[in-house]
Formats: sequence, C-alpha cells, structure tokens
Amino acid sequence: MSQGWLAWEGATDDPADQDTGERVAKAQSRYVCQSCGEAFLRWEGQCRTCGSWNSLVETLVREPSRAAQAARARGPSAPAGVGAPVALADVADADVPRHATGIGEFDRVLGGGLVPGSLVLVGGEPGVGKSTLLLQVAAGLAVSAAASGGWVLYASGEESAAQVRLRASRLGLLAGISGSAVRVVAESEVGRVVELARTARPSLLVVDSIQTATLEELEGPAGSVGQVRESALRYMELAKGDGIAVVLVGHVTKEGNLAGPKTLEHLVDAVLALEGERSAALRLLRASKNRFGSTEEVGVFEMGELGLDEVADPARAFLGDHALGAPGSVVATTLEGSRPLLVEVQALVAPGGPGTPRRTANGLDPNRLALLIAVLGRRAGVGLATHDVYANLAGGLAVTEPALDLPLAIALASSLRDRPVTPHTVAVGEVGLLGELRSVPGIERRLREAARLGYTRAIVPRPSRGGRLPDIGGMEIVSVATLREALAAAISTARETTAPE
Ligand code: TYD
Ligand code: MG
Repeated sequence: MSQGWLAWEGATDDPADQDTGERVAKAQSRYVCQSCGEAFLRWEGQCRTCGSWNSLVETLVREPSRAAQAARARGPSAPAGVGAPVALADVADADVPRHATGIGEFDRVLGGGLVPGSLVLVGGEPGVGKSTLLLQVAAGLAVSAAASGGWVLYASGEESAAQVRLRASRLGLLAGISGSAVRVVAESEVGRVVELARTARPSLLVVDSIQTATLEELEGPAGSVGQVRESALRYMELAKGDGIAVVLVGHVTKEGNLAGPKTLEHLVDAVLALEGERSAALRLLRASKNRFGSTEEVGVFEMGELGLDEVADPARAFLGDHALGAPGSVVATTLEGSRPLLVEVQALVAPGGPGTPRRTANGLDPNRLALLIAVLGRRAGVGLATHDVYANLAGGLAVTEPALDLPLAIALASSLRDRPVTPHTVAVGEVGLLGELRSVPGIERRLREAARLGYTRAIVPRPSRGGRLPDIGGMEIVSVATLREALAAAISTARETTAPE
C-alpha cells in the first residue's frame, strides 16, 4: 500500500488484494494525473508525462461535459444559459427549510436540522458510533417526516440488512413509525443506490459508508481515491438535482484524517466529526465545515446500552466525579463553540530513568505540553527536565484551545510538589513564552458556568489594559499576571494528608 488513505481500518474486503494485479481502465474511465492532468489507460506508479509519483487517479470519462451535468444537477427548472445577474439586495431571501431529526444535539450541530438537498459527511473512527447515530437520526427524521409522507433510505455497504435490523431492534426502533418509514438496502454500488433514490424519493438517504461505495464504471477497489471521489460526486448530483438530503458516513484514519481524498471534504456541504474514546461513553459531535450553519456548535452524547443518548447537562459531563483533591488535578473551563464545558486536567510527574524522559499527552496538544514544561522550568522554578510527564484530559475529550495552558501548568506543578490545588477552584488562561498569562475569549461565560456547577474560586489572567473582569456572584476571581503568581494562588501550601495512591 503506497498511500495513506488506503490504510483506513474496517474495510469490508481487503482492497490490497485487488490492488496487486494490473489495473486497466474500463471503457468509461481513465487514470488521470492529479499534477498535470494527462490521462492514461493503465495505472502506473509514476506519471509518464510529468514524472509525479502516485498521482494517477481513476476518473470517469464524462459525457456530456461537466458543465452540462452541473446544469442538469441544478434541476430541471434551471435556465439553459446563464441568467441575468441579480443585485445582491434583490436576490430572493431563501429561508432554508430544514428537516428536524428530533435528535436535538444533532440538529444543533447542523444549525437546526438537515437541509433538503444538502450533502453531509459524518466522520469518525471505527466503532465510535457513526452507524448507531445515523440509524437514530434516520428513525427520528422518519417519525417527524412521516406525517407528510416522508421516509428514509438507509443504504448499507458495510452490514447486511439483517445486521442493521439487529441494531435497530437494540435501539428500540423496530416498532412504530420508524419500523416502517426507515427502509434498508444492503447495496454499495452507487449507480443502483442513486437510481433507487431517484425513483423512490426518500426525504433522506444515508450511505454507510463512502469507503465501501463503488461505481461499476470504475476498476479501482472500494476506498480508492477514484472510487471515493466519483461516488461522492454522484451523491452530490443526487442531492442537488433531486433535493434529497444525503448523509455519507466516512471513516477516519488513525491520524485523525478522513480517509479519502481531500476533495471529499470540499465537495460536501457539511463535515461533522463524531469523537470520543471507545472505552469512555461520552461522544462529541463537531462541525468542521457547515454551509448552512455555524461550525461553532458541539453536540454531546453518551453511548449507552440503548444507543446514543443526548447529554442533559454537557457542561458537567466531562468532569466525572472530580472531588478528589488529589495532587496533579485541576478543573478547567473550556469553551466549545458557544458551549462552556468543564474538564478535569490531570498530570503525573515522576523522576525519569536514564535516557530521554517520557512525555505523554492524552486529549491535549503534545507540543503545548513540551512548551509548558520548558516555560515552567525557566520562568516559574518548576523543573521537570528529567521527569517523566503524563498529562491527560479526563472523560475522553480532546481540546486544543490555548486556554488549557494554565490549568495544565498548574496540574504539572501540583503533581511535582505533591500538593493539591485549593478545593472548588477552576483555572483558565493562555501561557506565553515569558511565563506571562494572556486572557482568553468568553471568560464571563466560562466562569458563570463554573459558578453554576458549584466552583467558588477562579484563577484567570489579568485583563489587558482597558479590559475588566466580570462580577460573578458567589465566585472569588483571582487575576494573575504571571505563571509564578498563578501557581502561588492555585496550589495549597499545606501538604495533603490523605493523598490517595
Ligand atoms: P457503531 O455505530 O457500529 O460504530 P461505527 O459505525 O462508528 O463503526 O457502534 C460501535 C459501538 O457502539 C459498538 O462497539 C457497540 C456499541 N454500542 C453500544 O454501546 N450501544 C448500542 O446501543 C449500540 C447500537 C452500539
Ligand atoms: Mg458502522
């Protein structure tokens, strides 16, 4: 296997098997170099025209031209030529109608529900719960659309209809409207699925997954760049041309990238990522692209015995049972879009053996951790250069915002000194290279949420000149200018007496 995108997990049949033989384009396809655009009949590792390696991608020969297809995709009512330009102010105000799926957290992330005719990609690692979520979404939409004759087509290329039924039964979706208004077809050939959807006209088509989708006209294995791209193009034509909402399931590689060509992400209207550790129950749904809403909103779910449940109080969800007061633990207030979430940052430092000390970050940016270790050593007298350091966000959440710098630094110092952070305290702030603290956006929203959840003390960066700190009832706000001051304010001077093992 020469290209990373082929290395996705959970393939139906190993595409590598089919990959070894010579690949010759079918009548309707050519191998097109992605660097110079030259087309070949045979697949080769190197483009004979421009010399690029691994640049040949199987592509459908399109008759009629793409422009004509695009015009057709715009719908039968589209004019043949280009219409007269319309002044911005005169463009009809299309208030996008939406299908509510009844799953609040999913609708929230999309910006209020699925837009008819939109193409949405839902990505996630194998086993995170994509199929479960989409079956629940399918059922929810079927129930809300049933009154107007709507229904949902679930095209499964990964599992048989019986397996989908088994999941539906576990989720309690067999009885009632969802049992009849969600229809399953175990089919991965895109032409047949599209044909079926064109004639039967569901309100929503779910394709599980785009990596198992194949086009008869192409020779390459399922999951190859050519197959994924052309399949997605077909589904886009279906969505735009027939006004059917299409949701594609996409696998994510170990590195966290959507398996498949980048064009897939450009093509679709929205990209949602379902994240979370398989071992932990919480799942976060984020939009990284959304043409019909903000990319700020996150949805929080919990995987249970009966599928994904919406989490009632997400701010608290990732906190676990943080009441320990153990050294190395501090509560941070992060902001996911407009939603504040409280998370416990944990650190453990231990004297390292010979050789390079270990540095492990889970749910936190390892580069940030390395930087904080250096700043702590040089600017705050917390020497960790020879220590093994483990840092972790409890609950399986992954956060990259710099606001977690200060809590992480406090957790590290607290662990090294073996002293707990003062109880009921939260911390938030970015740390600069000189050990100075910088304020972070949304401080008031973060602290209000912390106060609501019973925290009474917050350590925050001193606002820059002109800025002022919010006044929050029941909360003592300690503003500090440097990392050194922050550590002094956060960590108890009394050695802990009941330190747990
Ligand atoms: P699945 O939706 O198949 O994941 P994906 O499509 O992303 O690969 O679900 C994965 C896991 O979720 C599976 O290991 C079993 C678990 N699960 C539950 O815990 N509860 C449930 O109700 C269901 C349906 C699945
Ligand atoms: Mg699945």
